[in-house]
Amino acid sequence: MPRPIQANLDLSALENNLRVARRTTSARIMSVVKADGYGHGLMRAAEALAATDGYALLDIQDAVRLREAGYRQTILLLEGCFSAEQLPVIAEYRLTCVIHSPWQIAMLDGYPESRTLDVWLKINSGMNRLGFAPQQVAQTMDQLRRHRAVRDVTLMTHFANADESRGIAEPLALFNDLAASYRVARSLANSATLLRYPEAHGDWVRPGIMLYGASPFAEVSAQELGLKPVMTLNSRIIATQELRAGDEVGYGALFRAEHSMGIGIVACGYADGYPRHALSGTPILVDGQRTRTLGRVSMDMLCVDLSTLPQAGVGSRVVLWGEGMPIEEVARAAGTVSYELMCARTERVPVVV
Ligand SMILES: Cc1ncc(COP(=O)(O)O)c(C=O)c1O
Repeated sequence: MPRPIQANLDLSALENNLRVARRTTSARIMSVVKADGYGHGLMRAAEALAATDGYALLDIQDAVRLREAGYRQTILLLEGCFSAEQLPVIAEYRLTCVIHSPWQIAMLDGYPESRTLDVWLKINSGMNRLGFAPQQVAQTMDQLRRHRAVRDVTLMTHFANADESRGIAEPLALFNDLAASYRVARSLANSATLLRYPEAHGDWVRPGIMLYGASPFAEVSAQELGLKPVMTLNSRIIATQELRAGDEVGYGALFRAEHSMGIGIVACGYADGYPRHALSGTPILVDGQRTRTLGRVSMDMLCVDLSTLPQAGVGSRVVLWGEGMPIEEVARAAGTVSYELMCARTERVPVVV
């Protein structure tokens, strides 16, 4: 029998979650499939999301793979080009290119071909990661709209606090002010903005996390939003131990039993992508019932509390996250976000579709 851990993917959930996005907006949907489709597999995710209007990702090779597989939708390179050699490929495969920095315009200046490119000009509305500063926008817009290598310009920005109580009022007003002088398409919304701020949908929304079935909000569950988890990371108990009061568990003896109790040893550790920094008490399902992890997660194993599950034992099914065990809850207990957990699954975990 192989080691029992696996990641089950419910691709129909991706279709469901795309429908939720559709119902929420009349804008076109650019499905974000970067980071190997948030860890779900680029081509798998793309296929399940085939009803989308566009795909957004980072790597030009991945964009080419999508085009070669026959996807005709807009394919957006979220960080644009990284070198001048990529421009002819971008033109040949009709990819759309974010322009976030002056050095990318300098590359366009040297682009010799007659085929023009569609670009999305990124405005830094306060996140201070990528994008042109507000005072540079008018001049850059002018430059791009007159550029011989450019066919069409869309204006975009990305919000830092759409999922937080602080919201998007300030950066949205800034973006709207800057965009007001241009009759061009606009794109501003990640999942949180799409779900919470209809006034910021623009012409293209760019959902990522919600498509994979996780809530972008701390206080609203995926289920309440009508989203279904796509990935369920599951494994089994491979051994049990009976502890007496005072017995300790795992490296560093971080858990100490106060009374006698049973624990289960699960075939899943940080080398599978489960976060090592998940504390004792991280929620987990055993035989469909919630319990908690105990002690430090090790490379290949973690321990679970079976004191309320007397029937559980070797072979019991364990859900680390996914169906029945919201990934956001696990992420919170581990001091991280569902995005990181989804992307963390390692190669040795087989994917079952
Ligand atoms: C520019 C941009 N747009 C959209 C998204 C999708 O965001 P989310 O997964 O929160 O919906 C991301 C993801 O980080 C992004 O970087």
